[in-house]
Amino acid sequence: MFITFEGMEGSGKSTAMARIGKWLEDSGREVVYTREPGGSALGGLLRGILLDVRNSDIVPTAELFLYLADRAQHAASVVRPALERGAVVLSDRFADSTIVYQGYGRGLDVPALERLNAIAVDGVWPDLTLLFDLDSAAGLARAHARNEAEGKAVSEGRFEAEGLAFHERVRAGFLDWAARNPARFAVVDAGQDMDTVFASAKEAVEKRLMPGDRK
Ligand code: TYD
Repeated sequence: MFITFEGMEGSGKSTAMARIGKWLEDSGREVVYTREPGGSALGGLLRGILLDVRNSDIVPTAELFLYLADRAQHAASVVRPALERGAVVLSDRFADSTIVYQGYGRGLDVPALERLNAIAVDGVWPDLTLLFDLDSAAGLARAHARNEAEGKAVSEGRFEAEGLAFHERVRAGFLDWAARNPARFAVVDAGQDMDTVFASAKEAVEKRLMPGDRK
């Protein structure tokens, strides 16, 4: 079972992913927690390049190919082997982030991105994608506060430094992309308190992926 967690910065997807993972572990499953960019050893190096605000001159196509390189390595060396041994894989971002950030956000051609994603993942597609939807200004405020608190404003702040208009395109892009892929996506209202967000996410996992376990 492969579940991806998507949404804008500050949407609470990482916190929700940790709680979903704990719940699945408590039910006896092996859970692998991973992320993009940075889920593999190569990815760790690429993440440093991709998120550093000092790399503000990276052009959109170079950015795209770095994310795709990260994804190809991640899908082949981390996600596929874990799925093959029967683990549940939870990934904080995956291929949909490229469609939304590089496509809807930066303006690259979405059908071309779909083809490139297909090459990068080589058949490793999520069974379910949870989209944590949150007002862009609220998400950005949370992300800025987190980066400041963790001292990561420079090393991880390249996207947070984008203007509100970019993040509004990202939010609308995620919603549009989810609406185009309704069989795979479940949209969670991330503006609620964390317990309610977790409960909605858990319900989506139960309903879509384990209908037999439901009472
Ligand atoms: P992440 O570390 O998950 O940031 P956050 O925890 O703040 O959500 O993701 C890093 C950034 O990379 C994020 O701003 C979105 C961007 N990104 C893309 O632009 N394209 C991609 O394909 C991926 C995976 C991420």
